[in-house]
Amino acid sequence: MDSNVFKGRSLCTIDDFSIEERKYLFSQVRKLKAAILSDDTALMDSFRINDPDFGIYEVFLEDSTRTKESFRNAANFHHVKLTEMSSQSSSFNKGESYADTFNTLTGYENQVFIIRSKVEGVCRYLEGECSEYARRNGLPYRPVFINAGDGKHEHPTQELLDEYSFFEDNAFSTDSIHLALVGDLFHGRTVHSKANGLKVFDHVKVDLIAPKDLAMPETYLEIMKDNGYEIRAFGSIEEYLSQNDIATKWYFTRPQLERMGERILERADELRSCITFREEFLSRLPEGTIFYHPLPRHKEHPVIPVFLDNLPINGWERQSINGMYCRIVLLALVSGRIGSDFIPSDPKPSIPEEDYIHQVPDDVLSRKKEKVVSEGVRPIDEGLVIDHISRGKTPEEIREHMRLICKVMGLDSLKGGEWVSTGSDGVTWKGIIFRPGHMELDRKSLKRLAAVAPGCTLNFIKGGRVVAKYRASMPPRIYNFSDLMCTNEACISNALQSENAPAMFVRTEENKYRCAYCDKDHSFSEIFRK
Ligand code: ASP
Ligand code: CP
Repeated sequence: MDSNVFKGRSLCTIDDFSIEERKYLFSQVRKLKAAILSDDTALMDSFRINDPDFGIYEVFLEDSTRTKESFRNAANFHHVKLTEMSSQSSSFNKGESYADTFNTLTGYENQVFIIRSKVEGVCRYLEGECSEYARRNGLPYRPVFINAGDGKHEHPTQELLDEYSFFEDNAFSTDSIHLALVGDLFHGRTVHSKANGLKVFDHVKVDLIAPKDLAMPETYLEIMKDNGYEIRAFGSIEEYLSQNDIATKWYFTRPQLERMGERILERADELRSCITFREEFLSRLPEGTIFYHPLPRHKEHPVIPVFLDNLPINGWERQSINGMYCRIVLLALVSGRIGSDFIPSDPKPSIPEEDYIHQVPDDVLSRKKEKVVSEGVRPIDEGLVIDHISRGKTPEEIREHMRLICKVMGLDSLKGGEWVSTGSDGVTWKGIIFRPGHMELDRKSLKRLAAVAPGCTLNFIKGGRVVAKYRASMPPRIYNFSDLMCTNEACISNALQSENAPAMFVRTEENKYRCAYCDKDHSFSEIFRK
């Protein structure tokens, strides 16, 4: 049996490789780099795939120099077959979907697909789609997907080379890191990959330096907090340098003008000045400071000025060269050429899926002598009462939420009503929906209710009494409903992309719903189409 855990693996986001797997990858990069720099051919050969039938397919739908060319050079190193899809003249231009395109390519040959696209979450989606295509067509393989940058989501192979470069400059220690992230933290996918990427270090302190319009999105801040990072935020380099605790590693990112709307573009100069390093700042840096940059650097408006190129502060050139070593090793791993000696530690026991609908036991029900309705509404003899909706919110918010619940649960066309009332404390507002008549809800409908109205109670009434009562909490995962949608317009599952990718959400520690493709966080009321 092949015990290589890397073989056939995709890398859609940085967390697809565990911390110990990334550390193993770094140990291999270190070995390979030494072999290349000392021209040790035997050691280099131990990494080479050396199989002219091994297929690598580059599909770059956004511009690239480093990622595309370093993968191309990595493929040459491996003596494998590299194909480049010419997207300009492909049937994408006839309106073909990603799924149809990559299914077609999957049908031809076993491939490692390296994809750069504006569409976020595309690799995660295709990983499932194309595996299913291979299965239904009886193909004896499953394709591998490597995300070479998807919109403003992630750039996991860049993250590998960034982490490796930090590690190299940390005397190959992963004990701790203090890193300043400077620039366009809002649109920059390389800094978004840092939210989970930096977990390879045991103690992480990040200083976020960006004006408000370019600040790190909430989702990635949450991830960083959940990962236990110490986080500080500053509006400009000037502000950062006016305090004393300054990082010795700075990671700059280019303002991603191509991803900005008109409103921000108008202020490009002002925003750029907050995140551009100036000569006068140099004397305020701690000794041994190193600057990194994923590149490219803009020739007219570089955030790291060129006069720094010849100083020891220049870490970005070595970082870029490390990119090819990391990509050679990544291909060696997913092809199964290396990695068999890696023994993963025992997986954490998986937590059993919790239930999100809890039935209130009958004895509790009969003891409580439930009142069916309150405040002047005639009790119903038979029907359904959804109670405790949006408890603690304002009456306007509660009414809006009830409108959504009725739509999601298909209650609009039924007789009944909604009202806003106070709870047992007489102060806190809550919403109540009732529908008279015989009602049954199947498991799927209960899941919808739990997702759209967590915290509510669901009461089934017969003969004027509550005969069954349930409390709903947020399901850990929600998918398989055609009216779910991620609100990120660039996400593969958003209707604007017309890709028919079914939306999928996973509950976070903060009780938000995170899109399984693009990682955007949503409140429970945002995931159903309005
Ligand atoms: N090259 C990196 C990326 O593709 C950074 C940049 O373009 O600014 O995300
Ligand atoms: N760092 C990086 O991704 O560069 P390219 O955009 O040139 O590939």
